[in-house]
Amino acid sequence: MAAATFRDAWQTALYGPDGFYRRERPAAHFRTSVHVSPLFAAALVRLARAIGADRITDLGAGSGELGRAVRSLDPDLEVAGIELDDELPARIPGLLVANEWLDNVPCELAELDPDGVPRYLLPDLTPGPVVEGEDLAWLTKWWPLAEPGDRAEIGTSRDDAWSGVLGRLDGGVALAIDYGHVRAGRPAYGTLTGFRQGRECDPVPDGSCDITAHVALDSLGGTITSQRDALRALGISASRPSQDLARTDPLRYVAELSSAGEASELLDPSGLGGFGWVWTGTGEDAVRRASRALAV
Ligand SMILES: C[S@@+](CC[C@H](N)C(=O)[O-])C[C@H]1O[C@@H](n2cnc3c(N)ncnc32)[C@H](O)[C@@H]1O
Repeated sequence: MAAATFRDAWQTALYGPDGFYRRERPAAHFRTSVHVSPLFAAALVRLARAIGADRITDLGAGSGELGRAVRSLDPDLEVAGIELDDELPARIPGLLVANEWLDNVPCELAELDPDGVPRYLLPDLTPGPVVEGEDLAWLTKWWPLAEPGDRAEIGTSRDDAWSGVLGRLDGGVALAIDYGHVRAGRPAYGTLTGFRQGRECDPVPDGSCDITAHVALDSLGGTITSQRDALRALGISASRPSQDLARTDPLRYVAELSSAGEASELLDPSGLGGFGWVWTGTGEDAVRRASRALAV
C-alpha cells in the first residue's frame, strides 16, 4: 500500500516529533478512571496482591498519576511507569495494566465502497486503496462490513501491540482497560473521534488534539469483563454512608459520601463502568488467582 493512510497521519499526529503526546499532558484533555478516584488504584492494588504480585507495570502511564496513587496506598508495591521512548522490559513480572492505552494505538480505518469493496481511508477520511492481506482477514473475521458507507477500525495494530505485551509476561497478568466493543455489537460507522481540552472534537490528524477509537476487545484474546463487574468484585461499592454517621462523625460522613460519588462514576454502566477489562495470565496460579479476584 503506497499511499499514506489515516493511520499514518494519526501516528504522526500523536507521536511524531511535534505530536500531541510529545507536548501535552493527557489529564489536561480528558479524565480517565485514574483521575476520577484513588479507588481505581486501590482496586488494582487489591488485584495485584490477590495474584501474588509485588510489582505493577503501568503501560501508557501518562503523567504517572496511577503510580503515585499506588505508592501512597501500598509503598511495598513496586511500580514501573512506561511512556513513549521507554523500552518495554523483555520480561514483565506481576501485574501489567494498560489503562486507555490501546484506544490511542493508531489503526487503519476501512469503509465499504458502493461495490461492496472495503477501502482504506486516507488522511482526509476519503476512501483509498482496497483493503488487503492481514487487514482484510481481520475485517472478515472480526468486523464484517454490511452496507456501503459502513466503517470499521481494523484491529490488527492493537492486536499486535497487545500480543507484544503478552509475549513478555513472566508468570503474572496483563490487563487492558478501555472502551470497546465485541463482534456482536460493532458500531456501524466506527468510533473515531478527537478530544481537546476536555471536549470532543473532529479527529483532525494535525497534532492539535487527541485521536482515539474504541478497541475491538474480543480480537485481543483473553477474558473480558466489564469495569463495573471487575471493580465490584474487587470491593468497590457506591453505597452511601448511613445518616447516623452524619450525626456521630460528620467529617467521616462527608469523606465517605464523596468516595461513594467517585465509586458511582467508576461503576456507571453507561460511562466508565461500561469499559472492558481484558486480561490474560501466564501460569496456572496467576490465572486461578485472577479469576477468583475478578469473580469470572
Ligand atoms: C489516554 S493516555 C492514558 C494515560 C493513563 N494511562 C491514564 O489512564 O490516565 C494514553 C497514554 O499512552 C501513551 N502511549 C501511547 N503509545 C505508547 C507506547 N508505545 N509506549 C508507551 N506509552 C504509550 C501516551 O503517550 C499517553 O500518555
